[in-house]
Amino acid sequence: MRIVAAHVPPHTTGSGKIGAATRARLGPARLEVDIVVRVLVAYATKMGSNREIAEAIAAVLREHDLEADVRSVRDVRTPDGWDAVVLGSALYAAHWQRDANRFVARNREALAARRVWVFSSGPLDRSLADADLPITPNAAEILAGVPYEGHRTFGGLLRPDAEDVDPQILRTHAVGDFRDWTSIRSWAAAIANALSA
Ligand SMILES: Cc1cc2nc3c(=O)[nH]c(=O)nc-3n(C[C@H](O)[C@H](O)[C@H](O)COP(=O)(O)O)c2cc1C
Repeated sequence: MRIVAAHVPPHTTGSGKIGAATRARLGPARLEVDIVVRVLVAYATKMGSNREIAEAIAAVLREHDLEADVRSVRDVRTPDGWDAVVLGSALYAAHWQRDANRFVARNREALAARRVWVFSSGPLDRSLADADLPITPNAAEILAGVPYEGHRTFGGLLRPDAEDVDPQILRTHAVGDFRDWTSIRSWAAAIANALSA
């Protein structure tokens, strides 16, 4: 974001003030200040796919000249140092991951003081992934008191060889990659536009 203001440097006179005649002779100098908006894209993941969504969001923010850092919620004590936060968690049994819950619990006030967007990822079914399901009751409860500006539910990823997943689940759940990069990128672009306005 660039702010341009008419400005006459104070060193043009001893006192820092100048008269109208001098001002007319100098003309207004232009002071250009780049304000860097720093965005934390924080994710909670068990198997890694939500991190890749966070990375895709950050890449779009950077394309829009915002500074974006991708961090696991486990690695960020507070969002101090960032102006805005995009926070997302993978869903398991309709719940956000415990790490995401803890991140919000320890930062409720800090989040309320920033612009915040949130996302969930999970649905392993094309039509559900496309439906942008509403935030789950559990995630809504976690975020109580945090005035986030938008929430999206993106499709998820389950690999057929996923470790730490009960083989019975792999047999009974759809496996595959249901992440829609176009919709993830366009949501990120909307955030970038909102932050640049
Ligand atoms: C045991 C299990 C339970 C899941 N429960 C849900 C669920 O309730 N809702 C949902 O949308 N996705 C659910 N999923 C799908 C995951 O959210 C999806 O695989 C997601 O992309 C995983 O993200 P991660 O790789 O970042 O951990 C579940 C997956 C597993 C293995």
